[in-house]
Amino acid sequence: MESVLDDVLPKPYGPQAIVMEAARYAALGGGKRLRPFLMVETAQIFGHDSKDMWHVAAALEGLHVYSLIHDDLPCMDDDDLRRGKPTVHKAYDEAIAVLAGDALLTRSFGIIAETHFPPQIKSELIAKLARAAGMMGMIGGQVVDMTVPETGRDEALITNLQNMKTGALISFAVEAGAIIGGANPVQRKNLMDYAALIGLAFQIKDDILDVEGDTSLMGKAVGKDAGLGKATFVSILGLDAAKQRAQDMGQYAKDKLVDFGAEAAMLRDTVDFILNRQL
Ligand code: IPE
Ligand code: IPE
Ligand code: MG
Ligand code: MG
Ligand code: MG
Repeated sequence: MESVLDDVLPKPYGPQAIVMEAARYAALGGGKRLRPFLMVETAQIFGHDSKDMWHVAAALEGLHVYSLIHDDLPCMDDDDLRRGKPTVHKAYDEAIAVLAGDALLTRSFGIIAETHFPPQIKSELIAKLARAAGMMGMIGGQVVDMTVPETGRDEALITNLQNMKTGALISFAVEAGAIIGGANPVQRKNLMDYAALIGLAFQIKDDILDVEGDTSLMGKAVGKDAGLGKATFVSILGLDAAKQRAQDMGQYAKDKLVDFGAEAAMLRDTVDFILNRQL
């Protein structure tokens, strides 16, 4: 993923070099790469591997990196550390952080459009990614995350919030792998159900790690959600019940893979990675 991102992101040049530097600073040299990993592993269930698929995976990771740059801005979560380095607005400044995020977002759609997949596959990928990243997906979730009043919180609201802010991109990762790999409709439905469940488990675990994680392992600040008044499963259920919820989601996710054999072993192991991760 590192070398593909290096290829698809422009090298700094011209009077606007600083925005290219900032985009590369954020995208290269860190992160778990979970979303591209899920896309690649899903496509590999169907025996698919291609340079174009890796480019779509890089587009998704680039879009995720944009979301992190903006999520860390002073007007959002106001974080100084990301992936073990100063956040983009600290290493550069706020204007460059906004613009580097915008640049990564727009580049993502360009990368997919430039692949050699058949036109109907490309337009399906572009439409699905636009939806996952937009007001019905990640942006919608970020807005609810920033604005929901304490009185308006219940499990249904937080589930919806987390499905949008984190689940949508994780679901796109798996769906794109299924589209590119050529999954049939039943396989695609099972994989999408799996993705929705791991997306939820992933964000619940993120919220748990905010309480009991270690900054030096995670490369980002911990202990922030409570102070910022964030609506999380930990805030509404408490730590133990949130952990149980994540475990349950993980088990249900594995159950969705029963129709697959050994070829889905990596997707099963990914559930354990998500539940046990310390970073
Ligand atoms: C962090 O995502 C933001 C959330 C949606 C919780 P990751 O935990 O995948 O961050 P990186 O990509 O590994 O840095
Ligand atoms: C961010 O969720 C989700 C995004 C869409 C970026 P968080 O705000 O919990 O992510 P972290 O904890 O800062 O990585
Ligand atoms: Mg946030
Ligand atoms: Mg944040
Ligand atoms: Mg968090």
